[in-house]
Formats: sequence, C-alpha cells, structure tokens
Amino acid sequence: MKVFIDSADVAEIREVQSWGILDGVTTNPTLVAKTGRGFREVVEEIATIVDGPISAEVISTEYSAMVPEAEALARISKNITIKVPMGREGLKAVKILSGKGIMTNMTLVFSPNQALLAAKAGATFVSPFVGRLDDISHFGMEMIADTLRIYENYGLPTEVIVASVRHPLHVVEAAKIGAHVATVPFGVLKQMLAHPLTDIGIRKFYEDYQKIPKQK
Ligand code: E4P
Repeated sequence: MKVFIDSADVAEIREVQSWGILDGVTTNPTLVAKTGRGFREVVEEIATIVDGPISAEVISTEYSAMVPEAEALARISKNITIKVPMGREGLKAVKILSGKGIMTNMTLVFSPNQALLAAKAGATFVSPFVGRLDDISHFGMEMIADTLRIYENYGLPTEVIVASVRHPLHVVEAAKIGAHVATVPFGVLKQMLAHPLTDIGIRKFYEDYQKIPKQK
C-alpha cells in the first residue's frame, strides 16, 4: 500500500520524506489555511520535496472554471494531481482533465456509488473519507471495501486513497482490505512507527552494551 501524508505543512512533509517511506501528499484548503501561507506558494514548495503525486484542490464550483484553475495548478509540476470535489460539475471537470492527461483525485466521496461515478469519469484517484463517516456512526471502512470490490469487478483502474484517517487502526484496516493508498496525518504516522516495547528494547540493549567489557 502506498503511504501519502495528508498535510500542507512543509516541515512535516520534509520530516516524513526523510524517513524514506513517503509516496505522495494530499492537501486541502483547510490544511493550507492552517499554514498561514499562500496556496500556490505552499504547493510549489511541496513539489520541490516530493516526487510522488501531490494533490492540490480546485475551489471553483463550475466545471468551466475548474478546468482552467486545474490547468494552472498542473503547470507547477508534472506530479500535481488535481483534487476535484464530487458532484456533477466535478465529474465533468474530471472527464475533461483526464482527457488532457492531467491526474485527478475525486474528493469528498462518501459512498461506493460516488466512487463508481468518479472511476467512470476517469479519475486517477478517488478519496473516500472514512473518519468523517465514522464520526456520524457509519462504518467508513465498509465504503472502502465495497469500492475496492466494485473496481475489481470491472477492472476500473482508479486507485482508492483512504482519506480522513484518524488513527493507526484505520491504516491497518486499509492495508488488510487492499486499499491502494492511505493518506495519513503526521500525528498518525508518528503513532504508526512507535511501540513501547521497541523503546524498552532499545534502552535495554543500550544498557547491556555498557556492561560488555571494553576490549584493549
Ligand atoms: C483527503 O485528502 C483530505 O485531505 C483529508 O483526509 C480530510 O480529512 P479530515 O476529515 O481529517 O479533514
């Protein structure tokens, strides 16, 4: 499974890039707003850090405006992936952008039917939001499993990005059911690499090493 970071914070992105495990980045307007920086400036800097797909979201609401907005973002770097919100206008925009060879990520997806339509429009990626469904007492991960099954039934090439990840078990579940990608916040990535027994083990090995007689 590919691991993306769900962040617009370049310090976080640089840090995880240095771990050698990062396959891509997803941003959204909320994440960019948290940085206090300009949208294009942030996306341009991320493109200097990461080679994999970098999702940047359009904010236009009509496909006729989404397409030129997307084209301007796509000019930043060849790995920019245009995040387009699910809906009639979004589907039209994805169809046009995929025809132009621009990578797309259909976002704000909350049902397998929406995911099916995104794939039929030619989206490179689809982002079903598991955490926000869990928040309203729906099993978000069931939507992922259903979407994967549907895509497999018909050989649809769209890759499923498990989005709105809230905790490490979301990542485990995503990997167990064969999701193509999980986009994971920095805090959850740090939780994934930590284990108290690892820390105890490192400390014990270090202490025991000190007991080994020094060789002359
Ligand atoms: C997906 O690409 C979105 O950026 C993100 O996962 C949304 O997650 P949230 O529900 O934590 O805002």
